[in-house]
Amino acid sequence: MRNFSSGFKNLVKSITLFTFFIFSLPTLVCAQTTAVDTSKAAASTVATAPSGDAAAGEALFKANCTSCHALNKRVLGPALAGVNNRHNEAWLIKWIKNSPAMVASGDKEAVKIYEEYNKAAMTPFPQFSDDDVKNILAYIKVEGDKGPVDKTDGPKLPPSADAGYSNYMIFGLIAVVIVAFLVILLLNKVIGTLERLLLKRDNAGITLLEDEQLDENHQPKDKLYIARKLVKNKKLVFFVVLCGVLTLGSFGWMDLWNTGVQTGYQPVQPIKFSHQLHAGTNQIKCQYCHSSAWKSKHASIPSANVCMNCHKYVQATEKYNGEISPEIKKIYAALDYNPETQKYGENTRPIEWIRIHNLPDLAYFNHSQHVKVAGIECEKCHGPIKEMAEVYQYSPLTMKWCINCHRVTEVNSKGNAYYDKVLAAHEKIKKGEKVTAAVLGGLECGKCHY
Ligand code: HEC
Ligand code: HEC
Ligand code: HEC
Ligand code: HEC
Ligand code: HEC
Ligand code: HEC
Repeated sequence: MRNFSSGFKNLVKSITLFTFFIFSLPTLVCAQTTAVDTSKAAASTVATAPSGDAAAGEALFKANCTSCHALNKRVLGPALAGVNNRHNEAWLIKWIKNSPAMVASGDKEAVKIYEEYNKAAMTPFPQFSDDDVKNILAYIKVEGDKGPVDKTDGPKLPPSADAGYSNYMIFGLIAVVIVAFLVILLLNKVIGTLERLLLKRDNAGITLLEDEQLDENHQPKDKLYIARKLVKNKKLVFFVVLCGVLTLGSFGWMDLWNTGVQTGYQPVQPIKFSHQLHAGTNQIKCQYCHSSAWKSKHASIPSANVCMNCHKYVQATEKYNGEISPEIKKIYAALDYNPETQKYGENTRPIEWIRIHNLPDLAYFNHSQHVKVAGIECEKCHGPIKEMAEVYQYSPLTMKWCINCHRVTEVNSKGNAYYDKVLAAHEKIKKGEKVTAAVLGGLECGKCHY
C-alpha cells in the first residue's frame, strides 16, 4: 500500500511540476519583454505608452522622417529611439505637427532642442492627425526598443521592414521545445513510477538503482551511470536529435528566404560621386539628375553632360593645391574634354556606373507610377539618399516588400484621370451599359508598348 501511495505522490508531484512550468512559461516570457519596458519607464517620469498602430506608423515614418532621422543615430535631427521617454505624448504630437510654432512660442523643451541642433528647423507636419502621430510614436517605440541594427560587413543600415526573424517566432520555437521536453519528462516519470510500482512491490524505498549498483554512501558506483542511462533513453535521444534538426532547419529556412536579397549592396563606383554632397549639402533636387523617374518606368542615371553644367567650372581645386580634382578629371576624360582649351574631343566613352538596384526581369516596376501618380517620396524606397556618400540598396526589393506596401498605402484617386475612367466604367457596368476595352484604358500607348 505504501508503495502505491509513494508512487502516486510522485505522479502528482510530476503533474504539479509540469503544470507549474506550463503556466509560468508565458509569464516568464512576458516578464522578460516587459522588464525592459518597465525599467525604461521607471527611469523617466514622463514615460508614455504609445497607443498607436506601429505598422501604419512605420509607413509614415519612412515616408516623412527618415530623410532627417534615424532611430539609433543622429542624422540631421536627433536619434529618435527612446523619444517617448524624453517627452510626453501631447508634447510630441504638438511638436511633430508644428515644431517651429512651438519654438516661436518659447516652449522651454522645444527651444532647448532647437538650439542643440544648430537651429535647424524641423519640417512641420500639419497634415497629420493625432492618430497618425500616435502611430509613428508607436513605431518608434517598438523599433527603438530593438536597439541598433549592426551589420559588420556592410554599411550601418536603418532597420528595414524585412528585418528577418521576429521575436514571436523565436519565443514560439523555444516554447514548443520546452513544452515538448516537459511532456517527455513527465511521460518518463510516469512510466518510471509505474515500472517501479510493478517491479518493487515489496520494497518500501523507491530507488532507481539496484542495491548492488550503489556504494556504501548510496551513490552510484559507476560515475557515468546517469550519462549511460540517458544515452540509452531512446525518447531523450530522439528529442535531442529533433531539437537539432529543428534548429538547423529553421536557420536554413531563413537563409533560403534571404538568398538573392541584396539589402546593403554598395559597389565601388568608377567616380566617387556623393549624394550627400550633391543632393544633401548642395541641395540639388533629385529631379535635376533623375528627371525620368517622374516620366517613365526608369529613373535612369544622368549622362556626363549633366555633370558638366557645373563641373565645367566647379573643379574643387582648393582641395588639391590648385590642381583639378582627380575625380572630376574622370568626368572630363569620359567626355574627352580639355579644361585648358575648353574643347570636347571625339574620343568619348560612357562612365560605367555600377547598377545597385536591380529587379529580376520577371517583375515590372514603374517609377512614374509610384513617384508621380502615387506621390511616393524617393526616400521611402531608397532610404536616406541625401546622407549617403555612396549609395547602397536600402530596401530589400523582395516581392514581400512590394506587397506589404501595396497593402497599406492608400491610393490618391482625386484628380486622377485614370481613376475617373475606372469610376465611369463602374457606373456603366452598374447601369448595364456597354463597356469597351477603350473605356478601361485600352487605347493608352503604355498598355501595349514598353
Ligand atoms: C527636415 C528634416 C526633418 C524632418 C523631415 C523631420 N525632422 Fe524631426 N527633427 C529635425 C531636427 C533638426 C530636430 C532637432 C530640433 C530642431 O532643430 O528643431 C528634430 C527633432 C525631432 C524630435 C524631438 C527629438 C528629441 O530628442 O527631443 C522629434 C520627436 C522628431 N523630430 C520627430 C520627427 C518625426 C516623427 C518626423 C516625421 C514625421 C520628423 N521628425 C521629421 C529634423 C527633421
Ligand atoms: C547631381 C546629380 C544627381 C542628383 C542631384 C541625384 N543623383 Fe542619384 N545618382 C546620380 C548618379 C551619377 C548615380 C550613379 C552613381 C551612384 O550610384 O552613386 C546615382 C545613383 C542613384 C541611385 C542608385 C541607382 C542604382 O544604381 O540602382 C539612387 C537610388 C539615386 N541615385 C537616387 C537619388 C535620389 C533619391 C536623389 C535626390 C535626393 C538623387 N539621386 C539625386 C546622380 C544624382
Ligand atoms: C548643380 C551643380 C552640380 C552638378 C550638376 C554636379 N555637381 Fe558634382 N559637385 C558640385 C559641387 C558644388 C561640388 C563641391 C565642390 C567642392 O568641394 O569644392 C561637387 C563635387 C563633386 C565631386 C567631388 C570632387 C572632389 O574631389 O572633392 C565629384 C566627384 C563630383 N562632384 C562628381 C559629379 C558628377 C559625376 C556629376 C554628374 C553626375 C556631378 N558631380 C554633377 C556641383 C555639381
Ligand atoms: C516605390 C518604390 C520606389 C520609389 C518611390 C522610387 N524608387 Fe527608384 N527604384 C525602385 C526599384 C524597385 C528600383 C529597381 C528597378 C529595376 O530594377 O527595374 C529602383 C531603381 C532606381 C534607380 C536605378 C535606375 C533604374 O531606373 O532602374 C534610380 C536611379 C532610382 N531608382 C532613383 C529614384 C528616384 C530619384 C526616385 C524619386 C524620384 C525613386 N527612385 C523613387 C523603387 C523606387
Ligand atoms: C512605398 C509603397 C510602395 C512600394 C514599396 C511599391 N509600390 Fe507599387 N504601388 C504603390 C501605390 C500607392 C500604387 C498605386 C498607384 C496608383 O494610384 O496607380 C502602386 C501601384 C503599382 C502598380 C500598378 C498596379 C495597377 O493596378 O495598375 C504596379 C504594377 C506596382 N505598383 C508594382 C510594384 C512593384 C513591382 C514593387 C516592388 C518592386 C512596388 N510596386 C513597390 C506603392 C508601392
Ligand atoms: C492595343 C494595343 C496598342 C495600343 C493601345 C497602341 N499600340 Fe502602337 N502598336 C501596337 C502593335 C501590336 C504594334 C505592332 C504591329 C505593327 O507593327 O503593325 C504597334 C506598333 C506601333 C508603332 C510602329 C512601331 C514600328 O516599329 O513599326 C508605333 C510608332 C506605335 N505603335 C505607337 C503607338 C502610340 C504613340 C500609341 C499611343 C497613342 C500606341 N502605339 C498605342 C499596339 C498598340
